[in-house]
Amino acid sequence: MDWLNQELADIRNKGLYRRLNTIQSAQTPRIMKNGRELILLSSNNYLGLTDHPKVKKAATNAIAEYGTGAGGSRLTSGNTELFDQLEEKIAQFKDTEATLVFSTGYMANTGTIPAMMDKGDLILSDELNHASIIDGCRFSHSEVKVYPHRDASCIEKILQSSRHQKKLIVTDGIFSMDGDMAPLPQIKEIAEKHDAMVMVDDAHATGVLGKHNRGTADHFNLNVDINMGTMSKALASMGGYVAGSYELIDYLRNRARSFIYSTALSPPTAAAAMAAIDVIEKENPAKKLWNNVDLYRKGLEDMGFSINSNTQIIPLMTGDSRRTLDSAALLEKQGVFALGIRPPTVPDGKGRIRTSLMATHSRKDIDDALFAIGVIKEKFGL
Ligand SMILES: Cc1ncc(COP(=O)(O)O)c(C=O)c1O
Repeated sequence: MDWLNQELADIRNKGLYRRLNTIQSAQTPRIMKNGRELILLSSNNYLGLTDHPKVKKAATNAIAEYGTGAGGSRLTSGNTELFDQLEEKIAQFKDTEATLVFSTGYMANTGTIPAMMDKGDLILSDELNHASIIDGCRFSHSEVKVYPHRDASCIEKILQSSRHQKKLIVTDGIFSMDGDMAPLPQIKEIAEKHDAMVMVDDAHATGVLGKHNRGTADHFNLNVDINMGTMSKALASMGGYVAGSYELIDYLRNRARSFIYSTALSPPTAAAAMAAIDVIEKENPAKKLWNNVDLYRKGLEDMGFSINSNTQIIPLMTGDSRRTLDSAALLEKQGVFALGIRPPTVPDGKGRIRTSLMATHSRKDIDDALFAIGVIKEKFGL
């Protein structure tokens, strides 16, 4: 299989080779990596709940009671009562009629979109949507029109000339690599006018955005047809969910292949996600996160960065892949771990260091991180 080595050499030559970064601690504000303590500025553990005593205890108790694995798919023998409780909890948290839980967020998108959309239907998808949405669109065999980032007027133009049976507009709520938000009020208005469905991927907004921390729809005080999200980020666990009407969930339970043909989540992950929602409702950790976002943003702006994000995900643009890798490496030398993101995750020439805040970062963590960023800004002219 010589071609494998050739492909790998080609990936390396383009500066696109990916390797695993191994850390030796929990997802806390300061981590251990290769024997060094580093500030973690790249985690999706936005609320810091993977290390919360109540969340850890719930997971441990679930193992004691239900064991480590589900032992089957939800529709066969794997549906312990924990999963029903988790779905009820998410539905109540998201203020929807019902919820269906998948084993990952990736599977929620790749199962839901093809279940909803088929040949002869039309999907409108933001150009910066997450790969799991893109793959879900591909699996659907529908016509897919990719619209320029956040461009509601383009959505309207496409819908005006559409003669398709079913139409779906799908967008990230908070964009995973840019940290900006979908223009949901405009999208919703256009969708209503043209009888299209709206699906929002709230992987990065669940637990952090909106009056009740429910996500993007909560932030804009509106409803969408298909409210997808993950338990793998602010909810400190793993898995994906779709929240919506009874009929939607009943239908997906019968038609979403990634739900039907895969083993259920493990009991501790379900219990941890439920406990995280409890903590969010009782302790509102997002308040601390937003304080940290304000502090960090201000620090960056004072240094001369111009920031388009208005959330906890703040990319530092580095451009080409080499500069991205070199900047991330120097940042790590300065004591901060934040990932350099390159194509195909982001468009060509739009490499970046994706930084993200956690509610558990201290003032000193943020000050130290800003100091290190100042060093790479100076060196690479960011
Ligand atoms: C916007 C978005 N959707 C979906 C996913 C997939 O979620 P998961 O990691 O739970 O599979 C991710 C995360 O990686 C994401 O950023």
